Amino acid sequence: MQCLRDPGLSGDASAIEFLQDAIAVVRNGKIDRVAAADSILAELQDVPIHDYRGMLLLPGFIDTHVHFPQVDVIASYGSQLLEWLEKFTFPEERKFADPTHAAETADFFLDRLIENGTTTASVFCTVHPQSVDALFTASEARGLRMIAGKCLMDRNAPDGLRDSAQSGIRELIGLIERWHGHARSLYAITPRFAATSTPEQMRAMGQLAMRFPTTYVQSHVAENTAEIEWIAKLYPEHRSYLDVYDHYGLLRDKSIYAHCIYLDDADRARMTAAGATPSFCPTSNLFIGSGLYNLQQAISAGNRVSLGSDVGGGTSYSMLRTLAEAYKVQQLQGVSLSPAYGLYLATLGGAKALSLEDRIGSIQAGKEADFILLDPKATPLLARRTARSDDPLDRFFALMMLGDDRAISATYANGVCLHRRVTTVVA
Ligand code: GUN
Ligand code: ZN
Repeated sequence: MQCLRDPGLSGDASAIEFLQDAIAVVRNGKIDRVAAADSILAELQDVPIHDYRGMLLLPGFIDTHVHFPQVDVIASYGSQLLEWLEKFTFPEERKFADPTHAAETADFFLDRLIENGTTTASVFCTVHPQSVDALFTASEARGLRMIAGKCLMDRNAPDGLRDSAQSGIRELIGLIERWHGHARSLYAITPRFAATSTPEQMRAMGQLAMRFPTTYVQSHVAENTAEIEWIAKLYPEHRSYLDVYDHYGLLRDKSIYAHCIYLDDADRARMTAAGATPSFCPTSNLFIGSGLYNLQQAISAGNRVSLGSDVGGGTSYSMLRTLAEAYKVQQLQGVSLSPAYGLYLATLGGAKALSLEDRIGSIQAGKEADFILLDPKATPLLARRTARSDDPLDRFFALMMLGDDRAISATYANGVCLHRRVTTVVA
């Protein structure tokens, strides 16, 4: 099952393709074709077949905002954003000066993504270049398509986590040259947020974004009210928080901004005009107590929204858990996020937000062979709930509300099976 195009928030079912008993043929890491099993089985005599009858075949999930060094920050009690950064996040991130710690955490992090069916993510590393080396080394060993970058911070961060405008830029250029376009790796210029960079560093990053137009930009914006007040004090001459990034040339196509909760109409229109995209991070917005993202306003303004787990502010690597919270955040605002749109947000919508829809996000001939198998009977409760109807979108909705890593039976990236879940049979 997959999205052929954007089904819209209320879910135009004709945008969804569901093939019963289909086979996806993979050759050299790419999808060769997808067809009804009985129409091509005879031709595949000598080809090994992985039989997943009863499962839903979906494109690999895409997480457009996550922090790999925050594995050990997840589920930290009792703070909102600015205190949470000081108290829990910065102390953990300092440990990534040690390449051994960075490598071990990168392995752990990617294995969690894979067991949750995520095959592409846009990842924040720490200020240390060795943290980027660790992440891309581990993702290339697994054949994953990953976007990542070193955080730049030259103020308002503790010792051991600051670069200078000059050293940060020097390291950034070295990392772009080493990793951008290498295997399936893509580089993101990563100002942590406007509060931790001086205007000088912001300007230098904007200049690099122009010099390397195929790289990504990723950052945070308009997440929390105290953060927004602080930004207004640090950058008093700007109309809005988003305008700070715009002023320094950091709002452009291939730029991904996490949260975007407190944007106004002018900001949303500007994002669309610039080609910048919001990453909606519901588990984080609820956990940190940041606020409720209004999906409908963003879509109406033409924003290409995608979905982020934002772990460690977020509480799960699972895009299914993330969708469950996305649904509830919209319900609280009187809008029901359809299962078709949920599927879109986690797959083709993510690919479009990252301008990668020609390579990933759906299971079509010529695209990279990243896909997952979902088990509608993964738990006794899911088995009972999905027995209620054989409508694939209703089954996906049940998975969206009740599923997690237990529902991911297998994960393939670049045509290779990276994960198979050992399941207990549910009667
Ligand atoms: N704003 C600046 N840094 C961070 C971070 O690490 N997580 C979240 N959720 N927001 C941020
Ligand atoms: Zn974040």
